Amino acid sequence: MSFITYILFVLSLIASYSIASNDTSSITQSQSISDGETIVSPKGLFELGFFSITNPNKRYLGIRFKNISTQNVVWVANGGKPINDSSAILKLNSSGSLVLTHNNNIVWFTNSSTKAQKPVAQLLDTGNLVIKEDSVSETYLWQSFDYPSNTLLSGMKLGWDHKRNLNRRLIAWKSDDDPTPGDFSWGVVLNPYPDIYMMKGEKKYYRLGPWNGLRFSGRPDLKPNDIFSYNFVWNKEEVYYTWNIKDSSQVSKMVLNQTSKDRPRYVWSKDVESWRVYSRIPGDICDHYGQCGVNGYCSSTNSPICGCLQGFKPKFPEKWNSIDWSQGCLRNHTLNCTNDGFVSVANLKVPDTTYTLVDESIGLEQCRGKCLNNCSCMAYTNTNISGAGSGCVMWFGDLIDIKLIPGGGQFLYIRMPASELGNNSIEDEHRRNTRKIAVITVSAALGMLLLAIYFFYRLRRSIVGKSKTEGNYERHIDDLDLPLLDLSTIITATDNFSEKNKIGEGGFGPVYLGKFESGLEIAVKRLSQSSAQGMREFINEVKLIANVQHRNLVTLIGCCIQREEKMLVYEYMANGSLDYFIFDRTKSKLLDWPKRFHIICGIARGLMYLHQDSRLRIVHRDLKSSNVLLDDTLNPKISDFGLARTFGGNQIEGNTNRIVGTYGYMAPEYAIDGQFSVKSDVFSFGILLLEIICGKKNRVCHRTKQTLNLVAYAWTFWKHGRPLQIIDSNIVDSCIVSEVSRCIHVGLLCVQQYPEDRPTMADVILMLGSEMMTLDEPKEPGFTTRKESAEANSSSSGKDTSSNYEMTMSSFSAR
Ligand SMILES: *[C@@H]1O[C@H](CO)[C@@H](O)[C@H](O)[C@H]1NC(C)=O
Ligand SMILES: *[C@@H]1O[C@H](CO)[C@@H](O)[C@H](O)[C@H]1NC(C)=O
Ligand SMILES: *[C@@H]1O[C@H](CO)[C@@H](O)[C@H](O)[C@H]1NC(C)=O
Ligand SMILES: *[C@@H]1O[C@H](CO)[C@@H](O)[C@H](O)[C@H]1NC(C)=O
Ligand SMILES: *[C@@H]1O[C@H](CO)[C@@H](O)[C@H](O)[C@H]1NC(C)=O
Ligand SMILES: *[C@@H]1O[C@H](CO)[C@@H](O)[C@H](O)[C@H]1NC(C)=O
Ligand SMILES: *[C@@H]1O[C@H](CO)[C@@H](O)[C@H](O)[C@H]1NC(C)=O
Ligand SMILES: *[C@@H]1O[C@H](CO)[C@@H](O)[C@H](O)[C@H]1NC(C)=O
Ligand SMILES: *[C@@H]1O[C@H](CO)[C@@H](O)[C@H](O)[C@H]1NC(C)=O
Ligand SMILES: *[C@@H]1O[C@H](CO)[C@@H](O)[C@H](O)[C@H]1NC(C)=O
Ligand SMILES: *[C@@H]1O[C@H](CO)[C@@H](O)[C@H](O)[C@H]1NC(C)=O
Repeated sequence: MSFITYILFVLSLIASYSIASNDTSSITQSQSISDGETIVSPKGLFELGFFSITNPNKRYLGIRFKNISTQNVVWVANGGKPINDSSAILKLNSSGSLVLTHNNNIVWFTNSSTKAQKPVAQLLDTGNLVIKEDSVSETYLWQSFDYPSNTLLSGMKLGWDHKRNLNRRLIAWKSDDDPTPGDFSWGVVLNPYPDIYMMKGEKKYYRLGPWNGLRFSGRPDLKPNDIFSYNFVWNKEEVYYTWNIKDSSQVSKMVLNQTSKDRPRYVWSKDVESWRVYSRIPGDICDHYGQCGVNGYCSSTNSPICGCLQGFKPKFPEKWNSIDWSQGCLRNHTLNCTNDGFVSVANLKVPDTTYTLVDESIGLEQCRGKCLNNCSCMAYTNTNISGAGSGCVMWFGDLIDIKLIPGGGQFLYIRMPASELGNNSIEDEHRRNTRKIAVITVSAALGMLLLAIYFFYRLRRSIVGKSKTEGNYERHIDDLDLPLLDLSTIITATDNFSEKNKIGEGGFGPVYLGKFESGLEIAVKRLSQSSAQGMREFINEVKLIANVQHRNLVTLIGCCIQREEKMLVYEYMANGSLDYFIFDRTKSKLLDWPKRFHIICGIARGLMYLHQDSRLRIVHRDLKSSNVLLDDTLNPKISDFGLARTFGGNQIEGNTNRIVGTYGYMAPEYAIDGQFSVKSDVFSFGILLLEIICGKKNRVCHRTKQTLNLVAYAWTFWKHGRPLQIIDSNIVDSCIVSEVSRCIHVGLLCVQQYPEDRPTMADVILMLGSEMMTLDEPKEPGFTTRKESAEANSSSSGKDTSSNYEMTMSSFSAR
């Protein structure tokens, strides 16, 4: 199917309202408006009038944002019945109905149950067109919010009013220029446990998941936050969903948009002329309804994406293995009924709620008993997961449309025959429930780990850090199995180290560009003969980098130790270092948001590999933008291992008297106490991430009068609920707001003051990769306040330990 349908959640900034003092915001009995006239809401935010979209011979009556010129229509009265000229008239008749007539034919009208004496139709600043009994009445005889088109505005209700048997749902336009109601709808479905569906005709297309007291089960990110508040009301009279934007200077809309375009383009600029996308539904491949069939679950980070729930196996293994998951899964062992138990599975979007029973008066324990007593009850959980959890919902029959949401889903308790529970009696199993084993999560995490390339060490012992006698280095290097290159080859490749091939000055000597006869371009780091300091870094780098291999780490091709020469030969990175791009006014335009996000994720993967997958745990200790090189397709590669340290075995952190690295990127505990660990690299990563988003160096990011460092700057805006204020103007047009704000969030988690609060790189990768995950609130970052200024002074005083190493591989870019 070529249609991509989704809910767009967009917002835009309105600087000020035009006060429409001379416009009318209402019409009274027997008044009318004709084509060309409008009704404007009191503050001038919305207007009601006639318009056409692309075809001037199709006139529509509708409401639109008055001051926004693109995609401004929020409601259409006669979507399916356009008027072919401009002679139509909208009139409020004496009994309080709005009637749209054209050539004396009624095109559209409003129904009201009661007849009014002095009716008034008024357009409110919420975008609601209301008909009231009289101008002071508070109740509405009719309101446009009850008959939405494809747009849900702040404060509108999506869902049911039982008393009036009214179902408010969004219906997509047939196409961008045709407001005729199309096939797709978005609304609340009154299952026993109500759910929100996107339907294509009568077919389920996407399911949001029920409201679990805190958020929607399938979209944990759509929960109350700094920008929006969300609410789901479910009682005897009404079942509806609603959202509000908190900052009244901004406008926002949620649109059900049916488009044949593959990938929508989102634009945002600070002027009011365009919208930026806040969030999009469906989000990923697992959001296709029932993607993995019955009793299967879907995880977009797994490969393949579908799996059978624990205790189930593919119904048709051959089809399943040829990635046709539509037939789903079967139980491996049949249920016994009386002897069954439950397994708990964490982090799920709960299954389709069509066949459910809800009892809000009982808790989880009783729910379990109730489910156990009915042989067709397949699963249960709380209806409200807030606090200790309350309420009971039970599923009957097959379970469908389950999604694994790392870090954001909820528990589901699935019925199992005793044989699947191992030895466990029901009591054992019962106890186990409280342990809440994250069955699926664990396997997913393992899958992720396996994705990283595992490179086996040839060295039995950790030689790095132990070696004090630099004279022995040749023996060590011999141990490494690293290709030894012939000096004459390198002399030829670099044209005898000619000046024109010199591309920079590294931490321990010059760097040259060279070219092997095969055409392979190389970068040669040549150790200055005078540099004793450099020798230590050299040996360190050789030992470390020879033993790591990952697509996001720079590749060492070989080394050369001959006569007085000591050299390292790397693959040449055509695009130089990252700092060269992001801090350069023109170059930074080349890195749009998708590219930057790709770079952020690549650096994260490279660092995770160093920290946990490279056998020895390696702490880089000098991660910064100039140590990230970009290859010809802008893949990031971490370079410069001269300062890196390894940890043998279980050692978690180290201590050093010699604090090396670069101020601005150094974690507080390292800069102050010399304590380094993987978490100090995480800190540096956080700084780097913020720099990539902000396009400013940590030290020089000041737009306010006070000079704040980048971290303080990001933190300040974060605290005030405007994290996006910091983003580089060059990525404003290309960014996806939810993605950027998630990155900023992750960045702030990484730069928290205390290492134990910071996530690991594996956490970071999970957080960057999942739109669904709920992230912790960051605590105050390190180095935002007094300490930072102390550091800044010490580093500018010239006695900066880092200055020796500022230019290392970064100099590759200096061409
Ligand atoms: C809205 O439109 C009016 C009239 O065109 C204009 O005077 C006013 O500045 C606009 N407001 C904004 C915020 O663009
Ligand atoms: C309001 O509109 C009327 C008629 O359109 C016009 O005569 C009058 O000058 C306007 N008043 C203001 C304050 O613009
Ligand atoms: C417009 O539609 C009316 C019927 O509503 C029809 O009688 C008339 O001929 C149409 N005019 C044009 C120009 O198509
Ligand atoms: C007003 O319009 C409605 C809808 O067309 C109609 O049912 C009602 O009779 C009208 N009232 C009068 C007084 O014409
Ligand atoms: C008015 O009510 C009738 C019958 O109740 C219904 O068929 C019609 O769709 C309603 N019209 C509008 C504009 O709501
Ligand atoms: C649907 O989305 C596309 C891409 O964002 C946009 O061009 C189009 O105008 C939207 N359609 C509607 C009806 O909002
Ligand atoms: C299903 O049960 C059989 C026999 O008890 C066992 O060998 C097999 O591993 C199970 N398969 C799955 C997918 O659990
Ligand atoms: C269920 O298990 C009990 C005890 O193990 C056994 O007596 C009974 O026959 C089993 N029932 C079925 C339907 O397998
Ligand atoms: C089990 O629950 C289903 C669905 O509510 C119900 O139809 C059936 O009668 C129940 N069976 C028993 C034995 O209570
Ligand atoms: C869910 O539970 C929390 C805490 O017990 C309670 O405050 C809240 O009102 C409940 N929500 C609903 C929708 O029942
Ligand atoms: C199952 O029970 C047997 C015998 O009681 C015991 O030896 C075994 O360790 C148990 N296995 C598990 C997984 O609890």
